[in-house]
Amino acid sequence: MAIVSATEMVNKAHEGRYAIPAFNTNNLEWTQCILKAVQETRTPVMIQTSEGAAKYMGGYKTVVDMVNDLIDSMGITVPVALHLDHGTYEGAKACIEAGYSSVMFDGSHYSIEENIEKSKEIIALAHAKGVSVECEVGGIGGTEDGVTSNGELADPAECKAVADLGVDFLAAGIGNIHGKYPENWAGLNFERLEEIKEAIGGKPMVLHGGSGIPFEQTSKAVSLGVSKININTELQLVFADATRKYIEAGKDLAGKGYDPRKLLKPGCDAIIAKAKELCEAFGAAGKA
Ligand code: 13P
Repeated sequence: MAIVSATEMVNKAHEGRYAIPAFNTNNLEWTQCILKAVQETRTPVMIQTSEGAAKYMGGYKTVVDMVNDLIDSMGITVPVALHLDHGTYEGAKACIEAGYSSVMFDGSHYSIEENIEKSKEIIALAHAKGVSVECEVGGIGGTEDGVTSNGELADPAECKAVADLGVDFLAAGIGNIHGKYPENWAGLNFERLEEIKEAIGGKPMVLHGGSGIPFEQTSKAVSLGVSKININTELQLVFADATRKYIEAGKDLAGKGYDPRKLLKPGCDAIIAKAKELCEAFGAAGKA
């Protein structure tokens, strides 16, 4: 099976009150680990790249080919969507052309008028090719690809204006932050989440910055209509931790422990274990 649009899997998750895990990938190993975890747990998945990560891997076409080829060579049978995360206007267009099955256009830093105008264009281009679209209202805090923004609470009326354009799922700031959550983080703002849910008439919502949010908060968010949860930092942290332990234990110096296939294995195993744990936590395991 080749990559599929995310519309159906996210709508099913929305009806069934669970969330599709959307894991950011960084390279071949990361992608293999995510695919292994979702196949073993029977989880529909979105694999996503930032524009920076796609560039790092050699470009959008390389990513499309890599994901499709891995699905084929690993015998993956669960639905897999390939999604652009926080796309610019140009990036979203390029990914639609390159064969991504889903794109996010993040116009949250534009005025609402310009965000609406550009979102409308991307939605039309994407839908003409059967590609699903996520748009964003209200910046998500934290730093991603070198861009830092403070967490915002999205305006429900602006959310409605973008949702009404026919977007497939909507990202809205509800106090969530990319990266590690600070000690004094106030938590997700459920009052605002409920207001947005009412305003957009039950469209699926996306929770960015999913790493490190306490389980009770993610499940409450899912019960209120969040149907896609983004995870990047958490897989990076477990990978780095396991790799550091391997090197600190001097294992790279023993025998051929420096062989990348050995050196990267503990980190890869850690990604697989964490991804499986999150598939279960989001209620998506067993849904494929
Ligand atoms: P984290 O890095 O906090 O998991 O956020 C991922 C994300 O929201 C990608 O858009």
